[in-house]
Amino acid sequence: MFTCALLAVVSLLFAVHYFYTSRKRRENEPPLIKGWIPFLGKALEFRKDAYKFLDEQKRKHGDIFTVQIAGKYMTFIMDPLLYPYIIKHGRQLDFHEFSNKVAPVTFGYPPVHSKLHPGLKEQIQRAFKLLQGDNLTPLTESMMGNLMLVFRQDHLGHGGWRSGSMYQFCLSVMFEATLLTMFGHPAAARRQTGMSTLRNDFVKFDNKFPLLIAQVPIWLLGETSAVRKKLINHFLPDRMSRWTDMSEFIRMRMEVFENYENLRDVDKAAHHFAMLWASVGNTVPATFWAMYYLVSHPEALQAVRQEIQEVLSLSGVEFSSDTDVKLHRDQLDKLRYLESTINESFRLSSASMNIRVAQEDFSLRLGESRSVAVRKGDIIAMYPQIMHLDPEIYEEPKTFRFDRYVHNGAEKTDFYKDDQKLKYYLMPFGSGSSMCPGRHFAMNEIKQFLCLLLLYFDLQLEDGQSRAELDPSRAGLGILLPSADVRFRYRLRVV
Ligand code: HEM
Repeated sequence: MFTCALLAVVSLLFAVHYFYTSRKRRENEPPLIKGWIPFLGKALEFRKDAYKFLDEQKRKHGDIFTVQIAGKYMTFIMDPLLYPYIIKHGRQLDFHEFSNKVAPVTFGYPPVHSKLHPGLKEQIQRAFKLLQGDNLTPLTESMMGNLMLVFRQDHLGHGGWRSGSMYQFCLSVMFEATLLTMFGHPAAARRQTGMSTLRNDFVKFDNKFPLLIAQVPIWLLGETSAVRKKLINHFLPDRMSRWTDMSEFIRMRMEVFENYENLRDVDKAAHHFAMLWASVGNTVPATFWAMYYLVSHPEALQAVRQEIQEVLSLSGVEFSSDTDVKLHRDQLDKLRYLESTINESFRLSSASMNIRVAQEDFSLRLGESRSVAVRKGDIIAMYPQIMHLDPEIYEEPKTFRFDRYVHNGAEKTDFYKDDQKLKYYLMPFGSGSSMCPGRHFAMNEIKQFLCLLLLYFDLQLEDGQSRAELDPSRAGLGILLPSADVRFRYRLRVV
């Protein structure tokens, strides 16, 4: 009895102390949503279903509000017409401060520090150019060869129907082909045996990725620490030096790291491991969704297959299942309906959060006559999934329409809110200074995968498959995974 009373008094004192000492909304600041749990604030509700939580807050508090989430104050800008003011904002809003805190802890390398590693951050950024522009051509050609290699090795050459799990299919093909393209080929005999172990370890790590990003200590996550160590060791410099046909991008990163004596070999390897995650972590689920939507919409599949065949025959090539397909970069660029299909599946499956950190207290301008006060250290966040599913911008937003991004045979780029044309209407790759440097490569490799799939195979969902649903557990971090795998059937087309 006495203990209960004491507990009640202590709790009351805590609540009163929290009420008086915690943050209060100041003049010109957005509405503040704290919740009753000190420090955590609204973290649990946000983590359970970020889309639902933000949508509800938007209805209650309008387009701009600040939420306490796990000790941080996050100001969400919900109106996509305001996005340009965040994306084009200069030095007062920084992206890399956040990523440089979170990525090293997740992937196991020391934070990149301008005094300890002068120029390293800039050189890493500069190397991203090797994923873009003219450099995309050799990368795309190499990916084509590697995809063909993996298809021949694992999937071509059998007649009759076979069945498979769609996510597993995408994972095994895209993981291996992307790894070979970026990092090169180990000795042939070891490639196949090592690949499945590496992929399985990657999946184990990837399953814990949301917890690591949320800064849960790795020692609390069972075998994850040992698995990460194995993955990192795969990229030790003396092993990598024996791989052939490595991309210029990874070669340059190796050279850059060599110039820093205070980076140990395991640190360099951990940077490479992080790049492996960046290059497949989102690409695999994105490939899955594009394949899933095509296979479950036969009329879309038929239209896209016809487009691919037309582009091939325009260059004088008639497809035959006995020969290897080669699609060059300029041919991939012509595949409008395929690109629209991929963009539409990005729209339906992407839930990345775009984050900037306020470098000082200042007034953030959001138009001619609007501004809000933000405090140093606060996070400014955009959550484009809300825009992607907004019925005012996208008619029937939950419906897959493979041609949503095509108009009169060209790319459709005009989407409206409040009768105003949106500058940003599709944001699976982030925005502005933090935009994904691998986005063009990602688009090309997904296109290449789908071209081979549609040219070589007849495809069907197995009977009785229910609709694939999004698993919300990595909301905020990129492309969502399906909550369960989907069974499908495929057989070689005889052409
Ligand atoms: C569908 C596939 C992909 C998606 C949806 C995706 C999405 C993203 C997103 C949302 C970000 C963070 C941007 C921000 O916070 O504003 C990012 C960053 C990054 N992505 Fe991708 N990505 C994909 C594929 C790739 C590929 C294939 C590569 C490399 C070959 C890559 C390399 C990177 C790197 C290095 C960063 C960090 C950039 C920085 O620190 O400045 N991504 N990606």
